[in-house]
Amino acid sequence: MLEVSNVSKKFGGLTAVDNVNFEINDSEIVGLIGPNGAGKTTLFNTITGIYQPEPGGKITFDGTNLIGSDTHQIAREGVIRTFQIVRVFKGMTVLENAVAGAFFGDEKSLDRSKAEEKAQEALEFVGLDGKADMSAGVLPVAQQKQLELARALASDPQLLLLDEIASGLTPGEVEDLTNIIRRIRDERSIAVFWVEHITDAIMSVADRIIVLNSGQKIADGTPKEIKTDERVIEAYLGAN
Ligand SMILES: Nc1ncnc2c1ncn2[C@@H]1O[C@H](COP(=O)(O)OP(=O)(O)OP(=O)(O)O)[C@@H](O)[C@H]1O
Ligand SMILES: [Mg+2]
Repeated sequence: MLEVSNVSKKFGGLTAVDNVNFEINDSEIVGLIGPNGAGKTTLFNTITGIYQPEPGGKITFDGTNLIGSDTHQIAREGVIRTFQIVRVFKGMTVLENAVAGAFFGDEKSLDRSKAEEKAQEALEFVGLDGKADMSAGVLPVAQQKQLELARALASDPQLLLLDEIASGLTPGEVEDLTNIIRRIRDERSIAVFWVEHITDAIMSVADRIIVLNSGQKIADGTPKEIKTDERVIEAYLGAN
């Protein structure tokens, strides 16, 4: 579904993403891990059109070239992301946030009541349906993160990019969110590409894990393979 080949992104003399190759298949949960500054967020930003990669790289989604497209066009292709620093529309209600997602995904054919139905369904999916009329800005961070997820789901993505959606949550909240992510794959057949430093959570649910270190992909395998990979232990896991 998503194919990334020979993708690099430089900031001046720093190569933040260094000739990275991988693919993500339908309905697959792929974890992206690696030390701080490894290039994980930069890779997300490059896939979603915020940054242009160095010439020569290729990023395609279902065969469509994504390089050169704007973020909103890439989102319309079905590639939707959440942010490392949560970004809900704070002045809007919880329901309105999710409605915005629903309209974004299908602005031509949806009417308001259909969009609300979709939004409500997404809120139920993440467990926020009881909070629909609250102002999003007053929710605790854990629930703002759930709301970002609901807004993304309401737009009917095919691939969700989640950047540290579980960071700062309590262990119980992380477990709940991990279960929601599993259900996104199992019940909605949406592929998930998930960056997280909470390796236990990501290992418990991912079909495959990609490891970045200093911009380079150093491993790509099942959680079991990654846990015992010498390079990964040395670069990242050993320090945890
Ligand atoms: N806009 C930018 N301008 C210059 N350098 C940047 C920019 N964005 C990121 N970098 C640098 O690129 C490298 C990769 O950063 P990135 O944020 O992608 O890492 P990360 O893997 O997401 O780290 P973390 O786990 O801390 O979120 C770092 O050295 C960072 O300082
Ligand atoms: Mg990051």
